Amino acid sequence: MTALVGLDVGTTGVKAIAITPEGDVVASAEEHYGLSSPQPGWSEQDPEDWWRASRAALAQLGGDESGIGLSGQMHGLVCLDERGDVLRPAILWNDQRTAAECAEIEDRLGLERLIALTGNRALTGFTAPKLLWLRRHEPEVYARIRRIVLPKDYVRLRRTGEWAIDAADASGTLLFDVAGRRWSDEVLDALEIPAEWLPPVSESTNIAGAGDQQAAALGVGVVAPGTVSVVLGTSGVVLAALHEYAHDDAARVHVFCHAAPGLWEAMGVMLNAAGALQWFRDALAPGTSFDDLTAEASRWEAGASGVLFLPYLQGERTPHADADATASFTGLSLRHDRGALARAVLEGVAYGLRDSLELLRELGVEPHAGRVSGGGAHSRLWLEIVASVLGMPLERCVADEGSAYGAALLAGVANGTFATAEEAVAACVRVRETVEPNASWAARYTDGYARYRASYPAIRGVEGQHGA
Ligand code: XUL
Repeated sequence: MTALVGLDVGTTGVKAIAITPEGDVVASAEEHYGLSSPQPGWSEQDPEDWWRASRAALAQLGGDESGIGLSGQMHGLVCLDERGDVLRPAILWNDQRTAAECAEIEDRLGLERLIALTGNRALTGFTAPKLLWLRRHEPEVYARIRRIVLPKDYVRLRRTGEWAIDAADASGTLLFDVAGRRWSDEVLDALEIPAEWLPPVSESTNIAGAGDQQAAALGVGVVAPGTVSVVLGTSGVVLAALHEYAHDDAARVHVFCHAAPGLWEAMGVMLNAAGALQWFRDALAPGTSFDDLTAEASRWEAGASGVLFLPYLQGERTPHADADATASFTGLSLRHDRGALARAVLEGVAYGLRDSLELLRELGVEPHAGRVSGGGAHSRLWLEIVASVLGMPLERCVADEGSAYGAALLAGVANGTFATAEEAVAACVRVRETVEPNASWAARYTDGYARYRASYPAIRGVEGQHGA
């Protein structure tokens, strides 16, 4: 039997998954790599690591596939010279060096015009400001650029020689006319970026590729309003499918093309969700398993007896669009232990997701349930906390590796196994577990969320700079 394979090129590693046309997972593999931060707020990876890990993970699946779909961390900039060689380490989605360039972009185009053209405002993680940063700070690199690609499209290029991008992932470059699903000549002109550097654009279903968040939405069946995709990956995301293009006037949530042609998506993105728990483990409990850490957290009541965590470890995107925001614990007393802090981390991430959900509600999104994926979805406690803070049930689907699973579905549409993305979802995506909000935690979380909302502006006034 030949399988549909999905490969997700993530921030901590690649995940590969093989599924049957009925949606059952028959094999999976993972390969990890590191991330470097040569200066505070910077975040880089070597594209060669993605390729090495991808090859190793695909080899573990056995090679009997009828199609491979790709998903990957969005926005990352890979620059290639005229021979197709990589010019410098990739600058990633969670890199914060480009605040000045974001201001420059909004200045060159005017904020209103930029939002009208791209559906979005200039955020430090997006691709276009990275190009402007290189032009200013590494002109010798910039002068040699002939092509650019996003992370998973670099893996495609190495694997098949094809230089391509899908409308979904292209949306996150800030060079894209999201409503029209094509590159924006006006933005390219205004920023003086050569159009020939950009790959040809196709729909995700034609070339079996999408940004990880868009693939995850497909992997959990979010192809219509009603449910939202909730991702507890390195980043934390709440994403809604839109039947029609619509943007927030102030672009407080991102509006991108959906992986399904004819649909769009709106989403809020936190830079650290499972990434915050990983930081906490590495800093305060090295060698402890996540299961043991969440078991310690479960011994504390909802609200962690007053400890509150702001998860802005690398600045924050939604809702603050603030590259310099910092993380904090407040409300500590002598009685608190590591478990209380761990619980506060789980709860702080849940409050951050609630911020995104509230912004989506303002856009008219009215979900009755969240479909959850990402590494954090393995924790029953965390799901119960998030369900309680969001005030809606969370549904786990066939695979927690939502992005890789969605990429496999795209492979199935591209090779004709399914006629459309919607058909792939109908054939494969099933809910296997529902986690309900815990009613007895509701009052504590209403209070906790109010304190969380009040904390950012209060702390912002007294904190230092990263690395200061
Ligand atoms: C989405 C985003 C992140 C990355 C994570 O806009 O930047 O969720 O895609 O891999």
